[in-house]
Amino acid sequence: MKTQSPDRPARVNVAAAAGRLGVLTPGLGAVATTFMAGVESIRRGYSKPIGSLTQMATIRLGRRTEKRAPLIREFIPLAGLDDLVFGAWDPVADDALTAARKAGVLEAADLDRVADFLATIKPMPAVFDNHYVTRITGPNVKAGKTKRDLAEQLRQDIREFKVKHNLERVVIVWCASTEIFIAPGPSHETLDAFEKAMDANDETIAPSMLYAWAAIMEGAPFANGAPNLSVDIPALVQLAHDRGVPISGKDFKTGQTWMKTVIAPGLKARMLGLRGWYSTNILGNRDGEVLDDPASFKTKEASKLSVLQGILQPEIYPDLYKDFAHVVRINYYPPRGDNKEGWDNIDIVGWMNYPMQIKINFLCRDSILAAPIVLDLALFSDFAQRAGMKGLQEWLSFYYKSPMAAAGLQPEHDLFIQQTKLKNTLRHLMGEEQVTHLGLEYDP
Ligand SMILES: NC(=O)c1ccc[n+]([C@@H]2O[C@H](COP(=O)([O-])OP(=O)(O)OC[C@H]3O[C@@H](n4cnc5c(N)ncnc54)[C@H](O)[C@@H]3O)[C@@H](O)[C@H]2O)c1
Repeated sequence: MKTQSPDRPARVNVAAAAGRLGVLTPGLGAVATTFMAGVESIRRGYSKPIGSLTQMATIRLGRRTEKRAPLIREFIPLAGLDDLVFGAWDPVADDALTAARKAGVLEAADLDRVADFLATIKPMPAVFDNHYVTRITGPNVKAGKTKRDLAEQLRQDIREFKVKHNLERVVIVWCASTEIFIAPGPSHETLDAFEKAMDANDETIAPSMLYAWAAIMEGAPFANGAPNLSVDIPALVQLAHDRGVPISGKDFKTGQTWMKTVIAPGLKARMLGLRGWYSTNILGNRDGEVLDDPASFKTKEASKLSVLQGILQPEIYPDLYKDFAHVVRINYYPPRGDNKEGWDNIDIVGWMNYPMQIKINFLCRDSILAAPIVLDLALFSDFAQRAGMKGLQEWLSFYYKSPMAAAGLQPEHDLFIQQTKLKNTLRHLMGEEQVTHLGLEYDP
């Protein structure tokens, strides 16, 4: 029986997480304020970072017999929570405390403990245009003759934020509203076309793309928490690669879709068929209000629908998954606030074609699920940059409903494959062998 580990891959040279890390969020709404309040609450010792892999998860290294399973944050050099400094842009001028109170996610007692801290976070004027998000109005917006002017102002903001807070590095996580659906087109193909379109105030260039462009130009990793195209266009993917800036997206994987990416791999693993999956939910927060606009909902719907096809592969398993019905509804229902309730009815098929049903009733809290994702994306994106990882970070698919994939490839949706990919990427970068789960018995 083999006892020694085979040769390990060479460890990548990862720069230390020295100094302070700025985390900037376009959008200072429910998700962003819950994230910031949570980090401060953890720093003050009032809560634990529940839901965060970077803070709580371990990673197995080597063979089971070696019994090595450190915390991820002790295995890789990540920025510490004490080194994080927050900032935001929002067309609504409320500071983070006021915004958090309005969002109604956290109880007054929890906000009171960090109120002094949240009150100091005031949003910078946003690049905002009602054409792309119809249900929000706010006075705190930038003025500029062209979209490029506006994007240049964002770059200036990033530079000033860095100097003002004495930061070593900055990452940007999109936590702003879902924009209307925009199909990828010629203006998104090349950097040249994109920049010309910015100069020409072309309608196909949405604010979220300007933030992404500004971030990449300033060397700040960009993670996209909404389903908008944003950084998911060839021009910006290429720019990020050329400038050595990690990017990832799209749409935080929380609630119902997360559950789908847990259940669907289970059905497929057992070769059980699917006739239909009906998902509906009610929510009453501002995100729900924005998604009440059919144009914004279309962007979200596309993101939510792609998941099952990707996991079940009907083209390979037509007997099991050809032509299943998949319906997703989001209903804006104000009394629920951020406490969404989702119902799933899943019609499955077993041995000799006998039908069965699974019902899921998930009473979740959207922003409570999203906040640790923001934290992990900020820390992992910063780590990726220090490890020399350029452009699209597919190993962060774990966090997204609609993961970006390299050109010509299908995104991976299965949560468990995504988790393996994430952990194996960390092992690889740190010079540890991949875990294959092969037993120890076979020794040729
Ligand atoms: N909560 C979740 O579980 C979850 C999951 C996946 C994706 N998301 C996405 O995350 C985003 C934030 O969700 P939320 O619940 O915090 O919404 P929210 O409405 O509470 O906050 C969004 C904020 O973005 C601001 N905003 C809009 N356009 C902007 C712009 N161009 N620049 C800067 N700020 C802008 C709005 O004024 C608002 O304050 C949404 O796009 C949502 O779809 C949330």
